[in-house]
Amino acid sequence: MTNPRQGLPDGVDLSVPSAARLYDYLLGGAHNFAVDREFGDKLVASHPYARPMAILNRLFLREAVRLMVHSGIRQFLDLGSGIPTRGNVHEVAHEIAPDVKVVYVDYEAVAVAHTRMLLGDNDNATMVHADAADVDRVLDSPECARLLDFSRPVGLLVVTLFHYIGPDKQPQQVMARYRDALAPGSHLAMTHLALDAATEDLVEMMRSTQDNIFPRSQDEIRDLFGDFLLRDPGLQPISAWLRARDVDAEDNPEAGRLLAGVARKA
Ligand SMILES: C[S@@+](CC[C@H](N)C(=O)[O-])C[C@H]1O[C@@H](n2cnc3c(N)ncnc32)[C@H](O)[C@@H]1O
Repeated sequence: MTNPRQGLPDGVDLSVPSAARLYDYLLGGAHNFAVDREFGDKLVASHPYARPMAILNRLFLREAVRLMVHSGIRQFLDLGSGIPTRGNVHEVAHEIAPDVKVVYVDYEAVAVAHTRMLLGDNDNATMVHADAADVDRVLDSPECARLLDFSRPVGLLVVTLFHYIGPDKQPQQVMARYRDALAPGSHLAMTHLALDAATEDLVEMMRSTQDNIFPRSQDEIRDLFGDFLLRDPGLQPISAWLRARDVDAEDNPEAGRLLAGVARKA
């Protein structure tokens, strides 16, 4: 009999879907398991905007990186970076500036293993296996010490991350600590699910996965940016943000419950 765990990194639970592998499935990736695909099909049947939302989210991530590199950012901390797919942060950034440094962070074993495999011995990008809510663990990691200089501007990416961070982990305090660690001129890019009847139903569905979700009000999401100054077009439903930046993106009003913004530390 073949062993279904053969070749799997430690810590992978094949019986429960994970957000990282579900997102990979929605994006058409190959690093997911039957349990993720079954859940993904159920999710798309009841929330058909889920797949377009994932695609728009990825377009946002790439555009936010381009915007930051064009604004002079040469180092990125990507929290909740996920399973590598087409157009990863270091690839998008290196098309414009090959010297950009990137530290990826995720707590999901498949995401960590595939990122490490993709990066190999890349000198400019690395992966930290950590809970992003453990700020000390991330900021004091040898990987951050090696690649990032916090006396200079950093691009902090929290793209569909904070709605996985529940009240028990004190998300506003966690974000404040990251913001405080950054030098003036740093940028923060975020997408976050807004709370409404449909996302309340999503909360219920996601309870059967490894990753609960916590959609928040627009004001709570705005507060995560602290006193950073939102760049045009502000905090917007994701397709509106992309349209305003002239990105060719499908207009999906239902996906607009994912809010997007990029802000700068004065
Ligand atoms: C939907 S994926 C988004 C991936 C990528 N940021 C993007 O926008 O394309 C969310 C990722 O966040 C990770 N994640 C969720 N909570 C986390 C936490 N507390 N610490 C680290 N990673 C986390 C999940 O494992 C998953 O890979």
